[in-house]
Amino acid sequence: MSDTHGKDVSTIDAHSDAPLYPLPPHHHRLTDTDPRAARRAERQVAAMFALSALCIIAFVVGYVAIPTTSFIDLGPIGVLQTSNLVLGATFGLAILLIGLGAIQWAKKLMADEEIVDERHPVGSPIEDQEAAAELFATGVAESGFVERKIIRRTLIAALALFPVPLIVFLKDMGPLPGTSLRTTIWQKNSRIVVDVTGQKLRPEDLAIGTLVSASPEDLDRVQEEAGTQNARAKASIILVRMRPDEIKSQQGDGWDVQGILAFSKICTHVGCPIALYQQRQHALLCPCHQSTFDLSDSGKVIFGPAARRMPQLPITVDSEGYLVAQSDFQEPVGPSFWERG
Ligand code: FES
Repeated sequence: MSDTHGKDVSTIDAHSDAPLYPLPPHHHRLTDTDPRAARRAERQVAAMFALSALCIIAFVVGYVAIPTTSFIDLGPIGVLQTSNLVLGATFGLAILLIGLGAIQWAKKLMADEEIVDERHPVGSPIEDQEAAAELFATGVAESGFVERKIIRRTLIAALALFPVPLIVFLKDMGPLPGTSLRTTIWQKNSRIVVDVTGQKLRPEDLAIGTLVSASPEDLDRVQEEAGTQNARAKASIILVRMRPDEIKSQQGDGWDVQGILAFSKICTHVGCPIALYQQRQHALLCPCHQSTFDLSDSGKVIFGPAARRMPQLPITVDSEGYLVAQSDFQEPVGPSFWERG
């Protein structure tokens, strides 16, 4: 804080120029007076940075080499997944060692001077900017960053390796979809059943205006064999029924059964499942970002961020009168992706 004459009133007596809070005498550190102590501190700092780099290497090796099925019993603490323990310990230690090295470097080796800096109005006149740049250059010189090559190199190595775990984690985002989104388990004569209950459906089971969530009859078996939910994610559909004369257009000739239409249940924006239906407008509304699809007009987008229509599944009835698919979808289901073409 400054008075009207620019004096710092927090440290200067109002009636004299004597400081209100005189600084205690300055004691030099051992590393300022003893070159051997300075070299020892330099080695300590370098060792910490080098150990940090080794920890990052150990992290990567642990990530690749330790199977996720391996567990370790830590007695009263409990049973932990070995890879979690190793990754957490190595990454945490790497951060800790960089921090400790930086503190040690600043406390023992960087310039140790006490400076009184008079307060001044906020602002950055050009002279101050130049002074700041000069101070920065002085700081760099006094820190020894240029001369202390071993510290500089080990710090650069530690910081260069630091982002590696973030890159390694990209692997967990999974493979690119490739052709996996182009097909589902729907095929010619796949029976359409009510989702969860598995009830087979005849056209007369659906009243005009209704919406039913459905899936292929053999979905559970396929999922069990595959051990994933991928098949369900792609094959889920909704069935809606409207009067045949209300259908303005379809994605293929004769893809409905007496006004019953089948569409993918997965939003073409970013993949939310949809089952909100306004029967008067035949509008399917996605709860995530309000994309709206007109099911009476080929499932085209009439509102919202989705960039393409809802894929339609061609359906018919089999010899027993149950609803079945005519084939798989004719275009990829789910969100658009860069390999879709
Ligand atoms: S996921 Fe449907 S609108 Fe975004």
